[in-house]
Amino acid sequence: MSGKKPSNETYYVTSPIYYVNDAPHIGHAYTTLACDVLARFKRLDGYDVYFLTGTDEHGQKVEKSAEAAGVDPQAFTDRVSQNFRELADFMNFSHDGFIRTTEPRHATASQAIWTSLRENGHIYLGTYNGWYAVRDEAFYAEDELTDGPDGKKIAPSGAECEWVEEPSYFFDLSKWQEPLLKFYDENPDFIAPKSRRNEVISFVKGGMHDLSVSRTSFKWGVDVPSDEEHIMYVWLDALTNYITAVGFPDKKSEPYTKFWPANLHMVGKDILRFHAVYWPAFLMGAGLAPPKRVYAHGWWTNEGEKISKSVGNIIDPREIVDIYGLDQVRYFLMREVPFGNDGDFSRRSIVNRINSELSNDLGNLAQRTLSMVGRYCEGVLPAPGELTDADKEMRSQAATVLGAYRTHLDNQAFHEALESIWVVVRAANAYVDQQAPWALHKQDPARRDTVLYVLAETIRHLGIYIQPFMPDSGAVMLDQLAVPADARDFFHVGEDGALVAGTILPKPVPVFPRFVDE
Ligand code: MSP
Repeated sequence: MSGKKPSNETYYVTSPIYYVNDAPHIGHAYTTLACDVLARFKRLDGYDVYFLTGTDEHGQKVEKSAEAAGVDPQAFTDRVSQNFRELADFMNFSHDGFIRTTEPRHATASQAIWTSLRENGHIYLGTYNGWYAVRDEAFYAEDELTDGPDGKKIAPSGAECEWVEEPSYFFDLSKWQEPLLKFYDENPDFIAPKSRRNEVISFVKGGMHDLSVSRTSFKWGVDVPSDEEHIMYVWLDALTNYITAVGFPDKKSEPYTKFWPANLHMVGKDILRFHAVYWPAFLMGAGLAPPKRVYAHGWWTNEGEKISKSVGNIIDPREIVDIYGLDQVRYFLMREVPFGNDGDFSRRSIVNRINSELSNDLGNLAQRTLSMVGRYCEGVLPAPGELTDADKEMRSQAATVLGAYRTHLDNQAFHEALESIWVVVRAANAYVDQQAPWALHKQDPARRDTVLYVLAETIRHLGIYIQPFMPDSGAVMLDQLAVPADARDFFHVGEDGALVAGTILPKPVPVFPRFVDE
């Protein structure tokens, strides 16, 4: 049966932790939204879920921003980390944990992984001479750089580089080529989408230099154990957040035993290398299991233009939510772009999707069905009579789509997951038109009742399904059918949760009003 709960299955999903030097923007909201949809879906599917997000608070970039703001880095991060918590609440994210890398538990975990790497012979002391981009917090090889104006060296990401020469500890990344390639080979789903997997594999095949993992020229970071001159490279510290949050270095108890290795690290394409190359190497070097999967999504542009602070076209999530509505924005971000590709945020496309898919297709279906129950049946859910083939087909389609929905989300194909639900929405609209309950009203009230019941059941399924993407709207739809709070998970898909005839329904209200441009 499609709605069956798995037993004792766990699901650990993480967003990146965000640099606190910037105000939260649409890119941050997007990555965490994708995690939120998965977390909500898995909970409805009976999993024990841990969904983690947080802030990345160390490193030169944050230190410089604090300096520019004229405050000490701790006070600065205390303040700006709060903006990301507020964004998460405001976007209705259902995270179970919020981690800050300046927390004491995180220094403990970072030092513990460092110590394991050192004891296992993967870290040695040397001197770093090379290029560093503060904006990316990343080292670059000479041959990756281009010449910018004023003789500056520019990284492939567009960030300016500076020459760094200082004592440094190194991680023996050059020795990890074979183990990593073997790992990718044995775990073909570790990196997604496929095109990104190929990029990572060719990067690793190209050969890797040892990685500088400590700095001495500034102070804002986790201290290297037993060498107070050094702080840890911010990415080693940052990546470790994923195990800090589940209790590392305690590997023997929950939550670590329950949730590690993580099922999914969701990241943007710009930070895939850190997650798919460095992180599994660090973990294997420390004798820990790598995560099961890393998914790299694409980037948004704004009306066709690259989003950047200097152009001044940053999209503030609050602003678009104020204009279009929260669930409308959540829907658009997950529906507009085949997940994994880059996408464009344009006013025209969001308005189109709101008016055609949410308002016309889904909103009207619910509104017209429930108004007929109100008008023809005095607001009491009617009892169905014998079902025709068309009725049976409608009911079965509504229940069985859960299988396709689940598969799409296991592949992080959010747009296809929504499309599979919308196939049912369109089928239901065609069913209303064919059955024309308004015409049956006088001639055949028993048949009219059957059709309205089948429609109400279809809407119940749609209400359940949209909850991961649009939690508030899903709840409103289910409230209108008087579905009890404990009957809204996937266990209640199909006959198991069928609506009870005779239930008094509240007066319907439109769930998705049309967007009218002022
Ligand atoms: N602090 C690191 C991550 C450490 S994880 C151990 C970091 N932070 S970030 O704040 O710069 O970016 C976080 C995420 O936002 C990345 O996944 C990035 O891809 C995403 N985005 C930033 N701008 C974006 C768009 N314009 N569009 C989509 N996502 C983008 O990197």
